Amino acid sequence: MTVLILKTIFLITAINGVLAVLLVIAERYLANYGECKIQINDQKEIQVNGGTSLLSALSSQKIFLPSACGGRGTCAYCKCKVQNGAGPLLPTEVPFLTQTEIESQIRLSCQVKVKQDLQISIPEALFAIQKFDSEIELIQDLTYDIKLIRLKLLEPDHIQFKAGQYVQLVSQPYGKVKGSVQRAYSIASPTYETGIVDLMIRLVPEGICTTWVHEVLKEKDHVQIIGPMGDFKMHEGEGEIIMVAGGSGMAPMVSLLSDILCKSGQRKITYFFGAVTKRDLFFLDEMAEFERKIPNFTFVPALSDPQPDDGWKGTTGLITVPLANYLSSIQTDKAQGYLCGSPGMIHACISVMKEKGMPGDQIFFDPFG
Ligand SMILES: Cc1cc2nc3c(=O)[nH]c(=O)nc-3n(C[C@H](O)[C@H](O)[C@H](O)COP(=O)(O)OP(=O)(O)OC[C@H]3O[C@@H](n4cnc5c(N)ncnc54)[C@H](O)[C@@H]3O)c2cc1C
Ligand code: FES
Repeated sequence: MTVLILKTIFLITAINGVLAVLLVIAERYLANYGECKIQINDQKEIQVNGGTSLLSALSSQKIFLPSACGGRGTCAYCKCKVQNGAGPLLPTEVPFLTQTEIESQIRLSCQVKVKQDLQISIPEALFAIQKFDSEIELIQDLTYDIKLIRLKLLEPDHIQFKAGQYVQLVSQPYGKVKGSVQRAYSIASPTYETGIVDLMIRLVPEGICTTWVHEVLKEKDHVQIIGPMGDFKMHEGEGEIIMVAGGSGMAPMVSLLSDILCKSGQRKITYFFGAVTKRDLFFLDEMAEFERKIPNFTFVPALSDPQPDDGWKGTTGLITVPLANYLSSIQTDKAQGYLCGSPGMIHACISVMKEKGMPGDQIFFDPFG
């Protein structure tokens, strides 16, 4: 009897599996949705080929929505309001949408497929996002696993952005990677350098885009970026500024500091940079230069696991330790926090900041996950 039940379950599962595969094949190769219209903000109308994601359909018409994960449905940056034509909410969208967003017809544009005419709303500011052709002017090792790449913009030949924003780098097929992907990288260059874009890219083992950057890209190669995107930026305030970063989280901090330097503000700034050993530290000369030029700026690198031959005499411990010690010694109720790097480090530091009395709505961050 048990064997019969098991056989029946196996048979039903197998039939379901075959049907699902057939549906996917039919959807991919047989379904033809023809031309579809997308009406945007009740003003503009574009014509696209049906069958792709809303995100791709918009980008084919040079309308770029933020999409840090490159359409994989993991970043939730690509939200937009779809009033008509999107079909039912998909299970892949549900974890990323609040009840209020669902009621307001917000969808993940990388998950919504264009099968019929659509009516959508997107913020006007997104029309300023462009695709740039560029040439790699410089590739430089910052550490054993972080490279600086400098892009000289060709067409368009300049970019307007706010310090803290990011661009999406479009990778090319290489080796066994047959397709192109897009990944987000924060701009490290100053806002006044409008003809170049500096990126700091940390190698992620097995990572598609970072392996391409570290192992394939070379100077003079042509690459495309899309941007600027993101709302990580400096906010008005009177209290002390606390910056925290690790690894390539250094990138937007350099751009923010260059902006602060130009505006010659008087606010006290303390920047905690977390690293494991001395070989993970970089841009120390640039930080010393900022310390010389920006009044009240202090850079605090901390090593969590200094090696004997590092000869390290500076701060040690996880970055949360010096951060907590420092916050205990200052007035925190007006302080602002700016954090960039791995989601784990960011969330641990945000907890410390809140415990020490920093207002939650004055803590700004960009997790690189
Ligand atoms: C707003 C924003 C700004 C960013 N800015 C920068 C930046 O300035 N410099 C930078 O180096 N990165 C930055 N990132 C991360 C970057 O976008 C990519 O996620 C990262 O470079 C990995 O891309 P990949 O294609 O090589 O790896 P993938 O092929 O996407 O991933 C391979 C594997 O690694 C895991 N993974 C993905 N990203 C990371 C990561 N960062 N650390 C550890 N494991 C990971 C994935 O889960 C997957 O299992 C930023 C991310 C965001 C959202
Ligand atoms: S592009 Fe990342 S979730 Fe849609």
